Parts: sequence; structure tokens; C-alpha cells
Amino acid sequence: MADTPTSSEISAAAEILRAGGLVAFPTETVYGLGANALDVRAVARVFEVKGRPHFDPLIVHVASWERAESLVDEFPPIARQLADRFWPGPLTLVLPKREIIPDLVTSGGPTVAVRVPDHPLALALLRAADVPVAAPSANLFGRISPTTAEHVREQLGDRIDLILDGGPCRVGVESTVLQITLDEPPRLLRPGGVTLEEIEALVGRVSYAHQSALHETSQLSDDMNGGHSPPYNSPGMLPQHYAPRTPLVLQKPGFFETPGFSDTTRTGLITLLPPGDPSQFARVEALSPSGDLREAAANFFAALRRLDAADLDLIVAIPFPEHDLGIALNDRLARAAAK
Ligand code: TXA
Ligand code: MG
Repeated sequence: MADTPTSSEISAAAEILRAGGLVAFPTETVYGLGANALDVRAVARVFEVKGRPHFDPLIVHVASWERAESLVDEFPPIARQLADRFWPGPLTLVLPKREIIPDLVTSGGPTVAVRVPDHPLALALLRAADVPVAAPSANLFGRISPTTAEHVREQLGDRIDLILDGGPCRVGVESTVLQITLDEPPRLLRPGGVTLEEIEALVGRVSYAHQSALHETSQLSDDMNGGHSPPYNSPGMLPQHYAPRTPLVLQKPGFFETPGFSDTTRTGLITLLPPGDPSQFARVEALSPSGDLREAAANFFAALRRLDAADLDLIVAIPFPEHDLGIALNDRLARAAAK
């Protein structure tokens, strides 16, 4: 990691943003690729550089709750409660947008996703830029999210104006995306760094659609609205996402006994705990020897990248326990494995 950016580097980065340029910056979750959210040409470049389809809306980052409030039509009490508890932090709230937010940012939809990131560099940049910053994860569309500046450099280095290096990201999975409406319980659109358990402890029941390593396809949680609603998903949440180039499969019970498995010449394993018999694998990424999901999340994307770079024929993933950050990790695994 390079030295922490100085305040003059942060001012320079803020100036680039204000002038319509693209700056990659660290957040507590993953690195973001930032553009002035009010500058349509800058936002258009974000889509272009990432190869991102226009139907996938962007999260707008601000430095304070007051700034977030200025971008939305309505900030209901429940949103205020969530913001008070989890901002700055890995929670994104989807709320009715104000007119000043360009349609390109929201993919033409009536809502905008906002969040206050919990990272000193991100907050310093947002304050200095003094504009809302639209920022998707700073990776090519559909690929593995970046948790170091080096990851950003590898995929986007020559196509953006600046990368602020803040070292490895602390949380390691993206923010939780939660849609807030006036008349229904909040909807979980993407599990992430703030857990479902933490949110429900604060505001009560949340509805959500599952795409998890433990569920073959996207499906509703059993009790959600009596099972009558369509699956709730972010417009841009495609079944395949977060994908390495190497084929990735989820380990099912009995997997290692499957005929043909041992014939695969080079297999890598991504798992929470070290396997009993590591000898079947050319490479093992055990994310937390103590079984800690926070530690696992912080290591997850970097480990997936290492496996992808190891010239393997196949990556096998053992699903995580389906609670706390395990829910977000299983969501990412399921999408990485989707065809
Ligand atoms: O942790 C994060 O959220 C990172 C850092 C950089 O903040 N950003 C991030 O952005 O993960 P991105 O673009 O990779 O993912 C944003 C997600 C997508 O699934 C998108 O569909 C959803 O948020 N989203 C954005 N605006 C939305 C909206 N108005 N309604 C519903 N979903 C929205
Ligand atoms: Mg992303």
C-alpha cells in the first residue's frame, strides 16, 4: 500500500470530481469508482468505463445525513432511525428521489440509493468535493469487486483519472441495500455489510428475496407477505455477478465423492474453515481459521481473485453458515457460480 493520501492529494481528487473526472476511492466495503452525481457526462463515463448496462442504477455517496436528505423527496422516520444507527456505514437506503438527481443515476427509476460511507478518506473526499458522488464498485461489470487499490489498477487503471489508495477495505463485501417505502416493511434488495439481524433488531421485520448459495435460484423467503409478492431485487442485481473467469461451483453434500471430481487436474477451494484433507486441492483459501464471518468477509474478494489468478480448472466454494455476514457471502457465491 502506498502512503495515505495527503490533504493536498484529497483536494486534487475533489477538484477532478468537480471537473467531471473519475476518481476511484476506498470505502469500508469495497473501492468505489466515483463521479459527480449531478454531472450527466461524468456519470455516463462511469457506465462506459465499467461496461455497465444502463438499467443498473448507481449508489450516491454523501458525507452526512443532511446531505442525503437533500437528495430525496421523503426521509421517513424509519429511514432516519436506520441512518442514525448505521451511518456512516455499509447501509444503502433506497428512497424517492428529488428531481436534481439525473435519470442516468437511477436508471430512470423514481428512487435513488444513498449512503454515507464509513471511511476517513471517502468522507474527506466527499466533503472536499462538496457534490454527491455516484460510485459503483470500481471493477468491470459482473466481475470481482475490488478491496485494494491494486485491484482497481488492474482492471481500470488506464481508464480513470485517479486512484486514492487507502489500503485494504475493512468490511470487504458491499453495502446492504434496503428499500424504504411509507406503507410496507423495508425490503432487502442486496444483503451486505450491515446484517439482516442488526436491521431487524432495530426496525422489525424486513422482507427479502434470497439468492444464496444454499438456494439454487432466487426465491422468496417462505413467510414473506404470504408468498404472494414477486421477488424483490435491485434492478441491477443479475443472477450472474461477482464472477471469476475460472468456473466456480458450489460444493453440495457428497460433492467430493462425485465421479470425475478427482480427475479435474487443478482445483482450488474457497472456504470459511481449513478443509480436513487439503491434498485434493491445488490451492486452498480458508478465509477464517477461527470461523469468524467478519474476517471471512474482509478476505473474500481478494481470495477469489487469487484463486482466479492461479491457473485453476475449477474453483469449488463451500457455502457459509446462513446467518449474519454469511448471508451476504452466500449471495455473492451464488452469483459467482451462476451461469
Ligand atoms: O458498498 C457499496 O455499496 C459499494 C461502495 C463503493 O459504496 N458500491 C456498490 O455499488 O456496490 P454497485 O453499483 O456495485 O452496486 C449498487 C447496487 C446495485 O445492485 C444496484 O442495482 C443497486 O445498488 N441500486 C442502486 N440504485 C438503486 C435504486 N434506485 N433502486 C434499487 N437498487 C438500486
Ligand atoms: Mg458492483
